[in-house]
Amino acid sequence: MVNTEEKVVAVILVGGPTKGTRFRPLSFNTPEPLFPLAGQSMVYHPISSCKKIPNLVQIFLIGFYEEREFALYVSSISNELKIPVRYLKEDKPHGSAGGLYYFRDQIMEDSPSHIFLLNFDVCCSFPLSNMLEAHKTYGGIGTLLVIKVSAESANQFGELVADPVTKELLHYTEKPETFVSDLINCGVYIFTPKIFSIIQEVFLLREDRADIRHISSYESQQFATRSPTDFVRLDQDILSPLAGKKKLYTYETMDFWEQIKTPGISIKCSALYLAQFRITSPHLLASGDDSTATVVGDVYIHPSAKVHPTSKIGPNVSISANVRIAPGVRLMNCIVLDDVEIKENAVVIHAIVGWKSSIGRWSRVQGDGDYNAKLGITILGESVIVEDEVVVTNSIVLPNKMLNLSVQDEIIL
Ligand code: GTP
Repeated sequence: MVNTEEKVVAVILVGGPTKGTRFRPLSFNTPEPLFPLAGQSMVYHPISSCKKIPNLVQIFLIGFYEEREFALYVSSISNELKIPVRYLKEDKPHGSAGGLYYFRDQIMEDSPSHIFLLNFDVCCSFPLSNMLEAHKTYGGIGTLLVIKVSAESANQFGELVADPVTKELLHYTEKPETFVSDLINCGVYIFTPKIFSIIQEVFLLREDRADIRHISSYESQQFATRSPTDFVRLDQDILSPLAGKKKLYTYETMDFWEQIKTPGISIKCSALYLAQFRITSPHLLASGDDSTATVVGDVYIHPSAKVHPTSKIGPNVSISANVRIAPGVRLMNCIVLDDVEIKENAVVIHAIVGWKSSIGRWSRVQGDGDYNAKLGITILGESVIVEDEVVVTNSIVLPNKMLNLSVQDEIIL
């Protein structure tokens, strides 16, 4: 029997369509959280990590996508992992802390003693059980997963200062203009239920200010436009003010971590997850024996894909359902989505090939592999046709286009 004191739930914030713009044109077809990395949806990775937390009773995905976009997924992942996964839809964005608060009754249904909160768009090894142990020894309201990054990149994230001995969060600034620290927030948290009263205090403060504004000035109305009373952000509105008050602590990961900001980074993250499968789920990786093609390094091939034995695949390739790969094809560092056809002797390197696309004989779909650059990879949207002997380099091609001439460094609208 699970000790009721010890029940744990997990919440994954999935955002909504307005937050998915960085993922265009791929987010036209599928909500970004369901885009596959290493052959599994982006949210599969945090969900399967949550499944390993002792006494986990339920996982909630909270977002403002339509329910139907997640209905099939949550039912199949619940069956597959044998853990209840529910999608809860906000009527509008309430912010990262506001979204959590909005569904406090559902989250507290099982009276959990701890609540994990994860951003869907991070790629890491999710050391959740270790975090929980550390959190219990600290005795605070919340613990943040943190990591050291290069000083140059730190300002893209929430920078923080922690006590080197007690690990208490002393100072927190979201995307500061001047350098504070190379220690950053990973977007993975554990809280006790007290977090709800803290978010509530912010709401009440906002309402008080709104009341004053009622009788007050234009200036206050400007404030209201920027901070609606029912929108609360975790970083600026909760973490920053709570830092240095012995309420929040940090747990540093020495493992990999990335924020999946763009399709380019998703190729890098796919590689990280494929490498992790070597340790956690080797059965998901293709070997030369079962795929019959020549497999190099870490590769995922969906069981329904048809891959010709004379093709050479890898490293870092993930091939989705019903893909057909013809003789002599070479694939490296790419994500090939459902129902794609790649014809004889074509080459795909540093690219994402959208659903139902077709790549002609002796064609090349390629990128430089600069995953941080806007055009460092090539992306084909859904149902793009690349004709025979065409070379597509560092380009983004929107859905339903036909390319019969080679292109480089272009966005084809
Ligand atoms: P940037 O600031 O654009 O770099 O994004 P971020 O992901 O660093 O921060 P943000 O606070 O916007 O998002 C953190 C997480 O909360 C992500 O997983 C978002 O998808 C999610 N999120 C943000 N706003 C909302 C919201 O209103 N509702 C829900 N459910 N999720 C949200």
